[in-house]
Amino acid sequence: MSRLPDAKPSRRPSKRGDTETVDAEEAAQPKPFLKWAGGKWSLAEEIGQRLPADLASRTYREPFLGGGAMFFWLKRRSGAKRYVLSDALADLVTTYEVVRDHPEELIRTLEALRDEHTEQAHETYYRIRERYNERRAGAKIERAAWLIYLNKTCFNGLYRTNRSGLFNVPIGRFVRPNIADAARLRAASDALGSAALERAPFDHLRRAAKKGDVIYLDPPYVPLSATSNFDSYSGGAFGLELQEELASLFRTLDERGCLLIQSNSDTPEVRRLYEGFDVDRIDAPRHISSRGATRGPVTEVVIRNLKSWPKTARPRSPR
Ligand SMILES: C[S@@+](CC[C@H](N)C(=O)[O-])C[C@H]1O[C@@H](n2cnc3c(N)ncnc32)[C@H](O)[C@@H]1O
Repeated sequence: MSRLPDAKPSRRPSKRGDTETVDAEEAAQPKPFLKWAGGKWSLAEEIGQRLPADLASRTYREPFLGGGAMFFWLKRRSGAKRYVLSDALADLVTTYEVVRDHPEELIRTLEALRDEHTEQAHETYYRIRERYNERRAGAKIERAAWLIYLNKTCFNGLYRTNRSGLFNVPIGRFVRPNIADAARLRAASDALGSAALERAPFDHLRRAAKKGDVIYLDPPYVPLSATSNFDSYSGGAFGLELQEELASLFRTLDERGCLLIQSNSDTPEVRRLYEGFDVDRIDAPRHISSRGATRGPVTEVVIRNLKSWPKTARPRSPR
């Protein structure tokens, strides 16, 4: 791929020239179907410009998938040759599998939930939250629908579990949440058709990653301050120990010849962990946070091992 084109959604005039058609065209484009803490959709262009220029001939791995913003952004472009997407949160990966393999059944289940929610939002929300927590081994399609439903209706679209792994976010204050977004789910399903999905912690890359693979890492961030809390993804803390493990994996994969790109917060800790690599600062709007202290724009960094990238892979723009 020579240069990644503009990331903005296509607002070109439609054949009929009306906004409805343009909106329908936009709705058919891949985009995250979940709201996710740390989601990168608003930064996709900034990050995408820093990806290898020859990505179209490489395997792209995204081991902290979350809402999958970079993956969906890439699917609007010429993208990669092969995609391997993974996350440690098993229910999240199951949801992606269901979106990929059973979109129509999923949409029907969500439509039924939407109708119930319209009738009795509060009751429906807490009943589904209880079922989601109790029936862990339930049917895949139902579980995926529950996760999407809870994501669309819970407070701030936050996925948070307690120490026992129970989803404990209260209902949000949405007037008309888009619970069954059929166009978005169908577009995501098409995009995921070519992707391999895995439930795995990031360290599976030690065995799975191959020389020449492109790996975009977007871990829960190193906290900006002692009071920030970024450990609520899967009931376990992503503390300094895991950040150190990740930095050690980054060095191992660099030596193996992988092309690495990571997002993290701009803190002295991160700069210490990735000393010797290429660190670019970018200004990031932050929308979801469990603590007010981390709301508002924050500065984050993109870390790459550019010295190990072949010449053909180096982006041609100033990036
Ligand atoms: C910042 S979010 C990723 C956001 C994503 N890039 C997006 O645009 O939505 C981090 C993700 O890492 C996952 N995660 C947390 N600990 C992990 C681990 N040890 N291994 C793999 N994934 C993990 C969480 O479940 C969460 O989905």
